[in-house]
Amino acid sequence: AQTFKLALIPGDGIGPEVVAEAIKVLDAVASAEGIEFEKTEFQLGAARFLETGDVLTDEDLVAISAHDVILLGAVGGVPGDPRLKNANIERGLLLKLRFSLDHYVNLRPTVIYPGVPSPLASHGDVDFVVVREGTEGPYVGNGGVIRAGTPQEVANEVSVNTAYGVERVVRDAFARASARRNKLTLVHKTNVLTFSGNLWKRIVDEVGATFPEVAVDYLHVDAATIFLVTDPARFDVIVTDNLFGDILTDLAGAISGGIGLAASGNINPDGTYPSMFEPVHGSAPDIAGQQKADPTAAILSVALMLDHLRLPDAADRVRSAVVADIASRDGSARSTSAIGDAIVAALS
Ligand code: NAD
Ligand code: IPM
Ligand code: MN
Repeated sequence: AQTFKLALIPGDGIGPEVVAEAIKVLDAVASAEGIEFEKTEFQLGAARFLETGDVLTDEDLVAISAHDVILLGAVGGVPGDPRLKNANIERGLLLKLRFSLDHYVNLRPTVIYPGVPSPLASHGDVDFVVVREGTEGPYVGNGGVIRAGTPQEVANEVSVNTAYGVERVVRDAFARASARRNKLTLVHKTNVLTFSGNLWKRIVDEVGATFPEVAVDYLHVDAATIFLVTDPARFDVIVTDNLFGDILTDLAGAISGGIGLAASGNINPDGTYPSMFEPVHGSAPDIAGQQKADPTAAILSVALMLDHLRLPDAADRVRSAVVADIASRDGSARSTSAIGDAIVAALS
């Protein structure tokens, strides 16, 4: 059988709960499709840090890199926990993985599935994907603090945008638009962030000239939040920087029926490094350990992983089962594992 090496990072809070369901679904699909996943679990996150003081060792990073793909639940402790003050799990673990493994395409699709309780009263056909730049922008950590802790403190966060980094993600976004509905929206804040804004705009124009079939438009990020609520059906592919993409995709999750449905892929399209799939949400300390989390986002992240491994039939099986399960939801509460079991049962 075709065999893939899968690195599992269940993480913290609801991470392990949703990953357990994603694995149930993956195992069922793999056996139906005659494929195999050899799994290695890595205990990483706030819990590991509190136990050992490690965030992500070089040894872990090398071991993870030797896999074909990575599935991550969520990492991070309770925001503000003083014991995690110096750990910086988000930067030291999650961003370190995304940066080291060159995950420059952070792919975050949004579909409003039939029957889903979207908070939008009427929304039409919503099916778009945010291509969020994953390795640059304000996330690089290129700032610094001077006179820390004093009334004269200065805290700088520098957004880094390279022509190389912008071009490769813009090119990927155009290719996706060309394979979808031929529409690409650049979201930025070019009226204020003119240095990076001009670079993004220029590169979209240049790359766009080589995709004449793709219609291009532009929205400032503040206006984009309006249209995500009032007319989300207008979007096909949105390409945007790391921070705008972070914010827009939580909003996108909310309009599509909840953050518990929002899946993502951190993709290295070159295939030099393993890509990593994870729900958009975090470790949700407020509901952790209670079997209250919706595992659908993690399960749909498995579908994105199967797409990436060029197993479209397997991916479609997962998505169809999720669509069937969502259509049958009547608002009554189900446990995390009950949802996972129902989706397994709905697999064709
Ligand atoms: P969060 O996404 O964890 O939670 C926000 C809200 O959404 C909470 O009310 C939570 O209960 C709810 N929620 C999240 N996932 C859900 C699910 N599957 N089903 C039902 N409800 C769900 O965001 P936060 O509270 O800002 O962050 C908590 C921790 O997670 C922080 O340490 C943060 O840094 C970390 N975080 C990690 C990732 C990641 O690992 N990729 C992503 C975002 C946040
Ligand atoms: C996400 C998260 C991360 C991000 C954090 C935890 C670093 O919010 O995956 O959306 O900002 O990218
Ligand atoms: Mn986020």
